[in-house]
Amino acid sequence: MGIETSVLIVLGLGAAVYLVAGLLLFIWKHAIRSASGLDRFKGEWALITGASDGIGAAFAKELASNGINVVIMARSMDKLKAVEAECSKRGVSVQVIPFDFASATDEMYASLKGQLSDLNISILVNNVGVNVELPTDFMETSADLADRIVRVNVNSSIQMTRQFLPPMIAQKKGCILFMSSGGGTDAPGPKLSVYSGTKAFVDSFAKCINGELAPHGVTAHSLKAFMVVSAMSKIRRTSLTVPSADAWVRSALKVVGREASSTPYWSHEIMGGILGLLPLQMQITYVDKLHADVRRRALLKREKSKKAT
Ligand SMILES: NC(=O)c1ccc[n+]([C@@H]2O[C@H](COP(=O)([O-])OP(=O)(O)OC[C@H]3O[C@@H](n4cnc5c(N)ncnc54)[C@H](OP(=O)(O)O)[C@@H]3O)[C@@H](O)[C@H]2O)c1
Ligand SMILES: *[C@@H]1O[C@H](CO)[C@@H](O)[C@H](O)[C@H]1NC(C)=O
Ligand SMILES: *[C@@H]1O[C@H](CO)[C@@H](O)[C@H](O)[C@H]1NC(C)=O
Repeated sequence: MGIETSVLIVLGLGAAVYLVAGLLLFIWKHAIRSASGLDRFKGEWALITGASDGIGAAFAKELASNGINVVIMARSMDKLKAVEAECSKRGVSVQVIPFDFASATDEMYASLKGQLSDLNISILVNNVGVNVELPTDFMETSADLADRIVRVNVNSSIQMTRQFLPPMIAQKKGCILFMSSGGGTDAPGPKLSVYSGTKAFVDSFAKCINGELAPHGVTAHSLKAFMVVSAMSKIRRTSLTVPSADAWVRSALKVVGREASSTPYWSHEIMGGILGLLPLQMQITYVDKLHADVRRRALLKREKSKKAT
């Protein structure tokens, strides 16, 4: 056998092992493992920001189903009350805290911590997030809206982590989950530039914190989602690539105690993987066109409903 043939065989075998290992890992992550990382938090408290709707409400319900007490935060008291009832039904204690992350000051974050100092909060879910109403070019996004997106998506993550991490470190026990997005990380998000930038920040921040906390028994995880049924995504029907918030959260909770950054829903991981194979300029052009199309259709729908009334 010639040397070239042996090299080819070794390369081929290497590639085959790599592919099979990747496939087995994918199957293990999405079909086999459970949310066993949550077991050690039974009977303790989780705090979820932006928990009156969508993914945050699903986190509250799912954590409650796992025997974890929940503090739920958002602006609308009526929607929070509905989530509170859902969680109480699952036999855990619930605390409701109305809070506006867009206007919160340093003092408000500090007093929030004081208000909750009796609780053993060992899970923090930095979920709250806002986006532009429709995909919009940066220069057409008001400075005010851009500032709000940064305050709610970025400032809240920094401030909440600063307030609630020290007791976790003291107890050598804790978990912080961060809501990032495939848009901004796996793929760029033209026409959602400020939002995508905040989600890239969140992913990076979570990974850095993860490293720092490793010796302290606390884990941090960035969770990247593509489309999930919610008010923000404006998608109401589930499909292969758009899970319900409940289904997405059940996948996400399997990450507790494991990966620093991941795309927890199976079809989203495939989408991110395929997008990542394209050259960057193609990714940018593709997503820009996709978002232009979403905008055009949304404006058309708005026009129609205006005519109808
Ligand atoms: N849905 C998706 O397709 C998707 C994809 C990737 C990432 N994400 C991320 O997932 C997270 C949750 O998104 P979602 O789709 O569940 O959004 P959503 O349905 O719009 O829910 C957002 C939640 O945040 C609360 N909230 C908004 N502004 C707030 C403020 N200023 N102060 C306090 N609470 C506020 C809302 O409640 P109130 O109105 O009562 O305040 C609501 O409970 C976000 O970080 C988002 O970026 C979502
Ligand atoms: C809080 O949790 C830790 C770790 O589980 C435990 O050692 C401690 O006693 C708890 N404190 C309170 C006040 O419940
Ligand atoms: C949050 O947002 C404002 C700008 O809107 C900024 O002045 C403030 O220092 C920011 N940082 C933190 C950590 O809250």
